[in-house]
Amino acid sequence: MTGSGGETLSNLLHEERRFPPPPELADAANATAADYARADADRLAFWAEAAGRLEWARPFDEVLDWSRAPFARWFTGGRLNAAYNCLDRHVAAGLGERVAFHWEGEPGDTRTITYAELTAEVCRAANALRALGVRTGDRVAVYMPMIPETVVAMLACARIGAPHTVVFGGFSADALRGRILDCDAHVVITADGGYRRGKPSALKPAVDEAVRECPDVRSVLVVRRTGQEVDWTDGRDVWWHDLVDAQPAEHEAEAFDSEHPLYIMYTSGTTARPKGILHTTGGYLTQVAWSHWAVFDVKPDRDVFWTAADIGWVTGHSYIVYGPLANGVTSVMYEGTPDTPHQGRWWELVEKYRVSILYCAPTAIRTFMKWGADVPAQFDLSSLRLLGSVGEPINPEAWVWYRRYIGSERCPVVDTWWQTETGAQMISPLPGVSVCKPGSALRPLPGIAADVVDDTGTPVPDGAGGYLVLTEPWPGMLRTIWGDEQRYVDTYWSRFPGLYFAGDGAKKDEDGDIWLLGRVDDVMNVSGHRISTTEVESALVSHPRVAEAAVVGAADPTTGQGVVAFVILRGDGAAPGTDGSAGADEVAAELRSHVAREIGPIARPRQILLVAELPKTRSGKIMRRLLRDVAENRALGDVTTLTDSSVMDEIRERLPSGGTGSAAGGAGAEEA
Ligand code: WTA
Repeated sequence: MTGSGGETLSNLLHEERRFPPPPELADAANATAADYARADADRLAFWAEAAGRLEWARPFDEVLDWSRAPFARWFTGGRLNAAYNCLDRHVAAGLGERVAFHWEGEPGDTRTITYAELTAEVCRAANALRALGVRTGDRVAVYMPMIPETVVAMLACARIGAPHTVVFGGFSADALRGRILDCDAHVVITADGGYRRGKPSALKPAVDEAVRECPDVRSVLVVRRTGQEVDWTDGRDVWWHDLVDAQPAEHEAEAFDSEHPLYIMYTSGTTARPKGILHTTGGYLTQVAWSHWAVFDVKPDRDVFWTAADIGWVTGHSYIVYGPLANGVTSVMYEGTPDTPHQGRWWELVEKYRVSILYCAPTAIRTFMKWGADVPAQFDLSSLRLLGSVGEPINPEAWVWYRRYIGSERCPVVDTWWQTETGAQMISPLPGVSVCKPGSALRPLPGIAADVVDDTGTPVPDGAGGYLVLTEPWPGMLRTIWGDEQRYVDTYWSRFPGLYFAGDGAKKDEDGDIWLLGRVDDVMNVSGHRISTTEVESALVSHPRVAEAAVVGAADPTTGQGVVAFVILRGDGAAPGTDGSAGADEVAAELRSHVAREIGPIARPRQILLVAELPKTRSGKIMRRLLRDVAENRALGDVTTLTDSSVMDEIRERLPSGGTGSAAGGAGAEEA
């Protein structure tokens, strides 16, 4: 389906602001323009060199075997151990006293863990897993809060070649059970609970409930974190401190084949059962190590790096655990929520640990915008030198806010596009090279080949939109969907033969730079124009009163679909209609004309609802599918992946019965 302009996706929003790299950063940058040239000249030689960032027990014979495409094998014949590469070799190099993690619990308790200490703890845990009968190749499920033992558990699995599957601690017993059964894990590592929003939040009961119907789970290893009451099944449950602490701190790390499975990470499709994305060892570790070094420009002896994400997501796997540790970097790890006990908690941590590089999601940035710039202004953020964003398209206004109020107009912002499936960053600026454009991930990293194509798989010209594809295999790519090769082929390699279909819409601007436009299922079709929800959302967020917006297309008798926007106002703006300021109807009218001015009348929302919260997945992505159900007056679909299901009830209450215009009553952002 194409729009009236013949394009697959209309290219509407224009952004003129440009931010060149700071000269001091450019002068000392890890990655330079020469990296693009080298990779363009010989992609495989480039990756072979990047693999030199790791220590191989046996060198590889061939960089890439693509003879069974789309099933790739990278660095064939090579052997290595991922945990050894993240730990022992740094200790052997004399860096044992370097801090691996400054960990901060939500209640304010802290732990400082050096590389030597982490290595010893991982060795003990590896011995403990062996004692529980875990063999190389067995899967181990990990269901944990954000505590150091989570990193230890993952690396202990990697050390003995037992692929881990980390299930985010916010998921239900059902979700956990489905994942345990799908990958046939026989051992589960968990904790009594973790701290969230100022109180202990239990995990063990969900494990108990999940494994009741997993007959093959024989051991549950439990970390004591909160000290809360737990039910105990003798013979199955084991305390971490009883078993792990008693083990020797020595463990010989065996080298595994480069293609040995490292982990399975489940990612939800929109409807169907979750897909177990399989990552293997050599290629994955090469790309996360290289990208972490290049995109964040890390200087391991100086920087303090912080990925503010949960380890239960791929971002945590690649940029809390494997990337930073492979590079021997010092990281911050924080257990809790950003507003506990106050809305400045993150900035307090940046000040306390002198964080120099911060990586987080647009949803967090928009939340901080909503809370207001005076919150970060109370802290010393002068240690920061680089900011990153991941997980969703970042609206230009959020990008500029992040750079101004967190980065003091000094720090480059790298918008990094990638997926669970890609394993590592794929499209991103290089901070010492690229002239950044707010809202654009710019171009594929060296060694990566991507394009934007139309319905027929033909590359679109500059200035046009379409589907994002990856045109060459890359080292960190998923190898398959666990237990379902056909689904792997069907999902990613069948839409456009020979190309990896990412499921995202994108456009190329006049310079050929790439702008991500959200999942293709989120595209609207208004009077034959295919309009990206991302662009309308960015237009809304560019209005000074708006903190966050979610846009969906709802069935419309005249235009096919009409644009419906759900909007959260900024914290410093008063609640419409409550204090003599503009009422909800006026605000909605103003925003509708604002979008028409910014993008064009075609994108003018048919309806604007002011809301206090938006439905989000646990990784912070807006669930537009549910908003579409609301906008079309349907019963809600599956809400099991929603963080807080009461959000939807509230939004429904705001819905005027049938009418257009703003929600009756209006909602103040203060309620959020
Ligand atoms: C979206 C997270 C725009 C995209 C690492 C992708 C982005 C999905 C960006 C993968 C970005 C991620 N700009 N969109 N910088 N980064 N996405 O698997 O839709 O949780 O397909 O991996 O997030 O989400 P996942």
